[in-house]
Amino acid sequence: MANRWRRVGKWIPLAILGGIALAGCGFLEGPQSMVQPAGPVAQNQLQLISSSFWIMVEIFLVVATVLVLAIIRFRDRGQRGLPPQTEGDNRLELLWTIVPFLLLALLAVGTVKQSFALSASPATKNALPIKIVGHQFWWAVQYPTYNVTTANEIHIPVGQKVVLELTSADVLHAFWVPRLGGKTDLVPGKTNYMWIEADQPGIYRGQCAEFCGTGHADMRLIVDAQTPQQFSQWIQTMQHPQSTPTSALAQQGMIDFAKAGCSGCHTIAGTNFEGQVGPNLTDLTGRLMIAGNLLPNTPANLAAWIHDPQAVKPGALMPNLHLPPSEIRAIVAYLESLR
Ligand code: CUA
Repeated sequence: MANRWRRVGKWIPLAILGGIALAGCGFLEGPQSMVQPAGPVAQNQLQLISSSFWIMVEIFLVVATVLVLAIIRFRDRGQRGLPPQTEGDNRLELLWTIVPFLLLALLAVGTVKQSFALSASPATKNALPIKIVGHQFWWAVQYPTYNVTTANEIHIPVGQKVVLELTSADVLHAFWVPRLGGKTDLVPGKTNYMWIEADQPGIYRGQCAEFCGTGHADMRLIVDAQTPQQFSQWIQTMQHPQSTPTSALAQQGMIDFAKAGCSGCHTIAGTNFEGQVGPNLTDLTGRLMIAGNLLPNTPANLAAWIHDPQAVKPGALMPNLHLPPSEIRAIVAYLESLR
């Protein structure tokens, strides 16, 4: 019995390694794959990662080959006494000093070059500035040049440098959209800068990459890269939002929205709702997702979210207001009329 377990036990490390390798392969595909870069920042970072990866693979192959040769060539052949003893070899000493030095120098040059190329500041030329504030557990997105505010979905024009000004309203968060670039921390009381650029229109998914509380794993975001025309159209919609309810139900919803206290936390441009605690809801109909990008934006999901936020997203700071179904229906009708 003990013997059998010993035999099984031998395979456990191999199984773990296999599992890790498979998980690694999963990383290579999917919407958050950093090995499928969609812009110059992610592309440059991937180049740096692959060059150091291949240098390490080559070192491993050389060391492994020498090791295997030594094991075979100098194995115990049953001779007596010690083999010839040598001490010190200037050529070898030089070789294993110079080769690592050159390899590290190669990596250092690439790293320093990329660090300068990827740095950003408010003075970065011809860039669109976007201010992003991390909150438990959602993202506020502001376009200072256009006086537009939204949440969780960042619209950017393709082919243009976008400088992100990152800060936090509460705890540490980290901005990470793998297909567009590496992570940058959002730190309360400090502004960090990074730039991104998308080559092709599309939806690029990201998420918070710094543990920030119960809702951390559900703190997702979307970058919606659009053609410059689509982008300026979106900006115009946001600057001139339709915020007057059209149907009787939506009208009632607007009244209930204020009565229930929703407006204490949420801003809707074009109304006198100016709460700053929760996400800005202007043009909510235009969003793909709700609840920090957890659910597709449908009336049913919106109703479920308002009915019991914590059931949808554990740790959500939006309170359960215990609203009757009729009020929830009206509020959903009102929010769905915002465009
Ligand atoms: Cu925000 Cu994790």
